Amino acid sequence: MKDDLYSQIIEDTAELVRRAAHPRKGTISLSPETAALLERIRVRPSVDPPVVAETPGDGVALLQALAAEVSECTKCDLCHSRTQTVFADGNPSADLVFVGEAPGYNEDQQGIPFVGRAGQLLTDIIVKGMKMRREDVYICNVIKCRPPENRDPTLEEKRQCESYLIRQLELVRPKVICALGGHAAKTLLQTDESTGHLRGKWHFYHGIPLRVTYHPAYLLRSPGEKSKTWDDIQEIMKVLSGEIAPEPPAGEKTLWD
Ligand code: URA
Ligand code: URA
Repeated sequence: MKDDLYSQIIEDTAELVRRAAHPRKGTISLSPETAALLERIRVRPSVDPPVVAETPGDGVALLQALAAEVSECTKCDLCHSRTQTVFADGNPSADLVFVGEAPGYNEDQQGIPFVGRAGQLLTDIIVKGMKMRREDVYICNVIKCRPPENRDPTLEEKRQCESYLIRQLELVRPKVICALGGHAAKTLLQTDESTGHLRGKWHFYHGIPLRVTYHPAYLLRSPGEKSKTWDDIQEIMKVLSGEIAPEPPAGEKTLWD
C-alpha cells in the first residue's frame, strides 16, 4: 500500500475513535494507553508528536495539545513573520464560539485573540451587550498567525489553517457559533456570499447553528451597522437561553455524529 494512503487511513481511524471518545458526548471511553497511542499516530510522521493529553479523553487537554501543535506549525509562510501563534481565548467548554479572521499586531504580540481595538469592541458586545463574561465564551480565528501588515489572509493560508479550526470546534462543541466577518463566514460556510447577504439568518456548521455578523473592525469603521450586529447577537442569545433551537436541515450530521 502506498505510504500516503496508509497514513491517511491511520489518521482517519484515529479521528473516528477520537470523536467517539469525546469526554462529554462520546460513546466509548479510552484507556490512558490507547489515548496516548492515538495522540501519537494522529499526526503524520514528519511532524513532531504533539504533547500527549495527560487526562485521556479530556477536551481541555486535547485542546492544549492542539495549541502546542499549532505553536510549532510551519504549514504556510506566516510562520516566518509571526511573533507567536494565536490559538484561542476563553472557556474550552463554552456554549458560544466567536470565530474571527486573523491576529493583528496586538494579538501577535500577546498571543491572545481580539485584544486590540476590535477586540475591545467584541469584549464590550459580550460584557455590556450579552451580560456575559469574556471568559465564558470561546474566541478564536480562522488563521492562527498574523498576516504581515494585517493584509487579508490568502485562500491558501485559510486552507492550511482550517483543520485546526475544525478540531477546535469539534472539541469545544458549542451550542452556537458566531462568525465575525467575511473570512470566518466564507471559510465556515464554504461560500462566496458577502457578510451582508449571509447575516440575518441561521446557517449550520455541521449541524451547529451558526450566525454571521459584521466583524468588529468593520463596525469601528461603520458604526451605523452596529444595530444589525446587535440584532444578530440577540438571536444568538435566544439560542443560549433555550428560547429558540434552530433545526439543521434533515439529515445534516454534526462533527461528532
Ligand atoms: N481581528 C480578528 O479577526 N481577530 C483578532 O484576533 C483580532 C482582530
Ligand atoms: N465585509 C467583511 O468582510 N466583513 C464585515 O464585517 C463587513 C464587510
